[in-house]
Amino acid sequence: MEYVFPTYARYPIDIVDGEDVHLVDSQGQQYLDFTSGIGVCSFGYSNQLIKDSVDTQAGKVWHTSNLYDSQLQDQVAAKLVEPGMLAFFCNSGTEANEAALKLARKASGKTKVIAFNDSFHGRTYGSLSMTGNPGIKEGFFPLVPSIEFADFDDDAALTQVDNQTAAVILEVIQGEGGVNNAHADWLQAIETKAHQVGALLIIDEVQTGIGRTGTKFAYQNYDLHPDIVTLAKALGNGLPIGAMIGKQELASAFGPGSHGTTFGGNKLSLAAADAVLDQLTPEFLTAVQAKSKSVWAILKNEIAQQSIVTAISGQGLMIGIHLDEQVNVEDIVKALQQDGLLTLSAKHNTLRLLPPLVMNTEELTTGLTKINQILSQFAQTKMEAKS
Ligand SMILES: Cc1ncc(COP(=O)(O)O)c(C=O)c1O
Repeated sequence: MEYVFPTYARYPIDIVDGEDVHLVDSQGQQYLDFTSGIGVCSFGYSNQLIKDSVDTQAGKVWHTSNLYDSQLQDQVAAKLVEPGMLAFFCNSGTEANEAALKLARKASGKTKVIAFNDSFHGRTYGSLSMTGNPGIKEGFFPLVPSIEFADFDDDAALTQVDNQTAAVILEVIQGEGGVNNAHADWLQAIETKAHQVGALLIIDEVQTGIGRTGTKFAYQNYDLHPDIVTLAKALGNGLPIGAMIGKQELASAFGPGSHGTTFGGNKLSLAAADAVLDQLTPEFLTAVQAKSKSVWAILKNEIAQQSIVTAISGQGLMIGIHLDEQVNVEDIVKALQQDGLLTLSAKHNTLRLLPPLVMNTEELTTGLTKINQILSQFAQTKMEAKS
């Protein structure tokens, strides 16, 4: 690519077509998709209800700005939020977290924010400042002040949350950071401590939300009660949309003129989100949980047995296969591409799987079988090289 900044280490694959849960590149090679465009296209590439909703809206009006009322925004917000919460629409996960940071500071009148090592919240200044990955901050200092880091799933974090704290921000399962789970009792202790000291709990559901872990929001698996929730990725199934959801009592801190964005809540993205949320029914989520059960049986009984696999983490259809230092996860990703399967990597040599939630059990099994075979080949090669 000649005319685009080289900000991404891209694979030499140009995807030009997609159907259901399959993708095709410019050379005609077909792939089974275990990425969903990094957790975005959970309803795959041929969802008729989303297409119809976007087509209908495209035939009317695409964008009107936030100067005017939007029944569509209210309709989507009503489907999205839990009782007692309000939504602010934006265009991405990083923007949703910017909104959360601004709202938390303004509403609390405090500045200190606790974030976690290995977290990822985005690339704009506020969200980058809350991201626990020093490598991606290099060259961009000074960042936003008063953001402190603690270790994830570690009780020492509790002492860092004090009366000065405006907010604690976390992913209940860290995605980019290596698909890292936290214990339910740790998450609940963080929430309790935050609320004791008058700090807001912000849960970043950009990657975990919209059914990825088998519930609408991943925090629902842990009996948590966040003050603010951020979303993006799967909410629009590929049309750009983000959302910050916050408790109704925070509304006075986000009055007219306090925050905004031209494209936020634009009608095309909202039309996609509307159809996504209509399909995120209890029956759909039950089906995701049932498929996940079959997937986790294969992960535990077969893939975890491979000598180069050190652990398997995640929940539902958000999966991390942790590899030992004898192999480089990027080599596995490339070998799987050649075998017609698209996968992702994450920090700490983790093979990350985010298949579309509409993928059937047979297709999920096909992908896992390919992964098992490639891991087995790599393990064999390593053994031969050693002996
Ligand atoms: C948990 C989490 N938060 C925020 C973001 C940033 O979202 P976006 O890339 O839409 O700005 C990401 C992106 O990967 C994410 O995984």
